Amino acid sequence: MFNAILIEQHERGQRACKTEIADERLPAGDVTVRIEASTLNYKDALAITGKGPIVRSFPMIPGIDFAGTVESSDHPGIKVGERVLLNGWGVGEQHWGGLSEKARVRGEWLIKTPDEISSRDAMAIGTAGYTAMLCVMALERFGLSPTSGDVLVTGASGGVGGISIALLKQLGYRVIAATGRPTEETYLRGLGASEVLDRKQLAEPGKPLQKERWAAAIDTVGSRILANVCASIKADGVVAACGMAQGLDFPTSVAPFILRGINLLGINSVTRPRSERIEAWRRLGQSIGGLQLDQVTRDIDLADAIDAAKDLLEGKIRGRLAVNVQR
Ligand SMILES: NC(=O)c1ccc[n+]([C@@H]2O[C@H](COP(=O)([O-])OP(=O)(O)OC[C@H]3O[C@@H](n4cnc5c(N)ncnc54)[C@H](OP(=O)(O)O)[C@@H]3O)[C@@H](O)[C@H]2O)c1
Repeated sequence: MFNAILIEQHERGQRACKTEIADERLPAGDVTVRIEASTLNYKDALAITGKGPIVRSFPMIPGIDFAGTVESSDHPGIKVGERVLLNGWGVGEQHWGGLSEKARVRGEWLIKTPDEISSRDAMAIGTAGYTAMLCVMALERFGLSPTSGDVLVTGASGGVGGISIALLKQLGYRVIAATGRPTEETYLRGLGASEVLDRKQLAEPGKPLQKERWAAAIDTVGSRILANVCASIKADGVVAACGMAQGLDFPTSVAPFILRGINLLGINSVTRPRSERIEAWRRLGQSIGGLQLDQVTRDIDLADAIDAAKDLLEGKIRGRLAVNVQR
């Protein structure tokens, strides 16, 4: 038996609770992992609360991330006792996920946890931090460097936002943090932001071309803010867009793209090939000392994940939540 959060569907909607589950109910897969830590991402909060169509089949154990040790393996590349982690692949959506003491998955979904990163820290990073690294790598592939100019990060007090700031700062960029929580200014400056911008300045409908302000941006919120960000990027600049915390819409015109040569890079962490995942985690291992994970992360117990999901969607959580699945 193992403990997990289970989402079940009833006539009047869905319900999530912590419960004990028999090992025989684990889904098909060639590797079984004893999970040591998990986390709560925005997507997990949507799944647990039912506020977004994340769960594809019920009952479902949510959790798009986990880190732990291999308990049994029929996969040629993965040995019993190895430390592994998983991000995405539809886990926690269509295959039982990480908010659990155990998972059974396909071996090709797992990557080895870098030696520098403990299971808890891997989950303090989680899909949010891994996505922040994918955004940074996409900006670098585009040719961005610290001499290009300032980089804006939106949704700065959130998980992707906080780790993006710390990563960019460590790489030598001057970072501007846009937040709806000006009270978090000290925290954001502590992570490495040189300026903190009230997101109200970016939230109203604006002209498609505005004053050129930043060389690049990592956007975690979408909607009007992303439209205003694109309108304010310097000519030939670049935006890595990964989130939709404000909304899925994108009310702009082609003007920033055809009149200023702005480039919009879409980031989808779920579909990244294995080689890019391994590279992102290698670099996260290399950067671990500068990620300020103790500043960014709060540790919670498995049972707390249900209430924390509501708080996360209401914008009450700062940074990241690491989940101790054994408590
Ligand atoms: N593409 C991918 O593969 C991928 C991977 C991971 C996450 N994501 C997405 O990225 C987004 C951020 O994820 P996360 O884990 O960082 O979530 P999070 O911790 O909840 O952070 C989201 C942040 O967005 C800001 N925000 C919230 N509501 C807003 C609103 N109505 N208008 C404007 N800003 C708002 C808040 O920051 P402030 O209080 O500082 O303004 C909040 O902290 C989510 O949409 C998530 O689904 C995508």
